[in-house]
Amino acid sequence: MTRTLAGATLELVGKTVTLKGWINSVRSHGGLTFFDLRDRSGLVQVVGEKLAKDLKPESVVAVTGRVKARPQNLVNPKLTTGKVEVAAQTVEVITVSRELPLPIDTDGRDIDEQVRLKYRYLDLRRPRMAKNIRLRSRAVKFIHDFLTDQDFVEIETPILTKTTPEGARDFLVPSRLKPGQFYALPQSPQQYKQLLMVAGFERYFQIARCFRDEDPRHDRAYGEFTQLDLEMSFVDQNEILSLTEELFTGLVKEIFPDKKVTATPWPRIAHAEAIKKYGSDKPDLRKDKKDPDELAFAWIIDFPLLVKQTQEDFFHGAGVKYAPSHHMFTAPHPDDVKLLESDPLKVRGLQHDLVLNGYEVGGGSVRIHDPAVQEKIFDLIGFTDKQKNQFDHMLTAFGYGVPPHGGIAPGIDRFLMAALAEPSLREVIAFPAVSSGQTAVMDAPSPATPEQLKELHLKLVK
Ligand code: AMO
Repeated sequence: MTRTLAGATLELVGKTVTLKGWINSVRSHGGLTFFDLRDRSGLVQVVGEKLAKDLKPESVVAVTGRVKARPQNLVNPKLTTGKVEVAAQTVEVITVSRELPLPIDTDGRDIDEQVRLKYRYLDLRRPRMAKNIRLRSRAVKFIHDFLTDQDFVEIETPILTKTTPEGARDFLVPSRLKPGQFYALPQSPQQYKQLLMVAGFERYFQIARCFRDEDPRHDRAYGEFTQLDLEMSFVDQNEILSLTEELFTGLVKEIFPDKKVTATPWPRIAHAEAIKKYGSDKPDLRKDKKDPDELAFAWIIDFPLLVKQTQEDFFHGAGVKYAPSHHMFTAPHPDDVKLLESDPLKVRGLQHDLVLNGYEVGGGSVRIHDPAVQEKIFDLIGFTDKQKNQFDHMLTAFGYGVPPHGGIAPGIDRFLMAALAEPSLREVIAFPAVSSGQTAVMDAPSPATPEQLKELHLKLVK
């Protein structure tokens, strides 16, 4: 018999159906056995007299039985299928579950995270986690539909690539074919997306995995995270902000209909004003900070293009005075270009940060498309000729008709964390790493065999 989903039983009173799924909970009562059967559509109650003896929670079963309307006094308003139940004729146990190492019927917040991540495939059965991961999928689908409807082309860019200058430490991958040489995993597709503008695509996006070896925080993943990366040609900053605002406004309406957006259009606040008024460049503008259903979006603009160099090792540039406030491809404000020579710290950049409930959920900018200005920025941040050479491909590409362009990259994980009022990114990622960098379930990193090391021309230093 073809399989029926639990959620469909409501409409099938009187019919005989076969359900397949997990046993959610078992109760016995006066010679009758009750359990909720769970599948991807939800739960439905199963009841029977002589059911298989060893009905263990979380075992996988196939149930054949008749859908019956429940008497009015036994309707369960907490279940969408609460008006019906399935009177089982047969229950076949397909696979048995051992006793679970952690409870999954709670919200799970009080369980040791190491345990949750070791058994992540069970933790993801938890209704809250299953809901978060499903919402994530719906949000990404909305983004795909919205952008492809607006002429954006989705393009994948390499993961094995060269170091990118987003300011974090790179992950390196040794090359077997070129002894002593390394790929870097991309900190973002920044250079590729700009090259795609030179290539004439005009509107690009990608749900892009980014890799950064930086100290984790509750809102900063260790290792990898996901961006909605997008780039457009022939646009000004206002057009980038408007499109992003339209995208997220539509997304919230469809995926988070119960959330209230504090102010529309989203306020646009100059960086200096944000610092002065709120003491932060990512202010939390919610009216009621205790309300998990309030979303306060804002744009922060007019950032300084350059900041005083603070990290000694930033771009290996000890002694260099300036570092890019965002990244080195951000265009200076046209009114301030003349200050690049005389007073670089006064130059505003065409950077825009998207802020939500006190988190920076996106960053982007209008880019430099004049090779001379790009060289000037390289000089200001103290690039040596050797470092400049590493970006020669960009300057070369820009010599063949580069359109003015710009874009943004909202963080998918961070947006969802803020929108769902979750306390950590890990609550919206299926298999996140813990803060020590150890991955969920699979327990990477792990040692390489001597053979692997030899093939990669690597020797470990003790
Ligand atoms: P930026 O470095 O500002 O810009 O990153 C953009 C957005 O990515 C998210 N993000 C992270 N999320 C989780 N864990 C992390 N470690 C992490 N790091 C960043 C944040 C952030 O706002 N190439 C530029 C974008 C551009 O200019 O278009 C870039 O990557 O939500």
